[in-house]
Amino acid sequence: MLVKEFTTVLELEPLPDFVETGHVRDVTERGLAYIEAGFPLHLRGLSGTGKTTIAMHLAAKLGRPIVVFFGDEEYSTSDLVGGRYGYRRRRVVDNFIHSVHKIEEDMRQTWVDNRLTVACKHGFTLIYDEFTRSRPEANNVLLSVLQERMLALSPIRGGDGYMKVHPNFVAIFTSNPEEYAGVCKSQDALRDRMVTIDLDHPDRDTEVAITVSKSGLGKEDAAKIVDVVRALRDSVKCEFSPTVRGCIMIAKTLRIRNAAVNSGDRVFREICKDVLSSETSRGGNKAGMKKVREAIGVLIDRYCSLPDTSALDTRRGRHARTSKTAQPSSGGGGLSG
Ligand SMILES: Nc1ncnc2c1ncn2[C@@H]1O[C@H](COP(=O)(O)OP(=O)(O)O)[C@@H](O)[C@H]1O
Ligand SMILES: [Mg+2]
Repeated sequence: MLVKEFTTVLELEPLPDFVETGHVRDVTERGLAYIEAGFPLHLRGLSGTGKTTIAMHLAAKLGRPIVVFFGDEEYSTSDLVGGRYGYRRRRVVDNFIHSVHKIEEDMRQTWVDNRLTVACKHGFTLIYDEFTRSRPEANNVLLSVLQERMLALSPIRGGDGYMKVHPNFVAIFTSNPEEYAGVCKSQDALRDRMVTIDLDHPDRDTEVAITVSKSGLGKEDAAKIVDVVRALRDSVKCEFSPTVRGCIMIAKTLRIRNAAVNSGDRVFREICKDVLSSETSRGGNKAGMKKVREAIGVLIDRYCSLPDTSALDTRRGRHARTSKTAQPSSGGGGLSG
């Protein structure tokens, strides 16, 4: 059977807004060491702990072409390995003699290698993001790839049903323990073959640096938003932990709405409450949301109040706040609320 490959292979450049703090360097160094020692790597952590970003960063460091796969419960083994494609039906209409129609059917089937097969064959780096979202039956094919470095293939593809995995093949997995809990035992068998690094939410400096880098907000203002988010996280009032994603969303929306990081700014308070209550309660439980919104209000008062609001010039504050090089927001908050 004719074998083809239709797979998107990426060449990753280092991200321009990637933040490298001590925390990020530490995870990167550990991850690269396990990969160099020949182990598949698994980054496990809650949403927003930086798994996907660090997986991409590690893959870029390896300098090999990359194939990315996002776990999905709809997937089957053929989505990873490949399958038969190729039924073709063509209808030809003669423009001069309208009664003439010609239909061609081509039943020749072609085997198309999918991402895992392509990566194993050429020694590429595979990033399998949120692998536990796929059903265990779809992922079982990975067991022999990781353990024996052999990929089992359908006899229909031709050959002897196995492919030796290229020595440069590297696999990086990510998963979220919240989604993983009790999913299935055979996912555990897969996980046993990997080295797992557990990621927690980054430290404060890293969250501030990420917020600044992704939004362009000044460091002092970003730090206040991060403090609100971290305190909310620690207060355990939420169904789901707020993340640095929430910080980035708040910081970016502030610019659009011309709001200031200031407890007196009504728009700022509204943005924080909208973003953080939606991030932390996905079920939309009204009573729960109300409590979270109230808690956010208290934290905004605690972390974003200006020392002496009477001395502020609203306009001057707004300009200073939104610039990337903004000065500390003691002189940079607007009072619009
Ligand atoms: N080192 C970093 N540098 C820049 N941005 C980062 C970094 N780590 C995480 N981020 C940003 O933080 C957010 C959450 O990271 P992400 O990798 O998507 O987390 P996860 O995959 O664990 O849910 C994303 O917007 C991402 O761009
Ligand atoms: Mg992710």
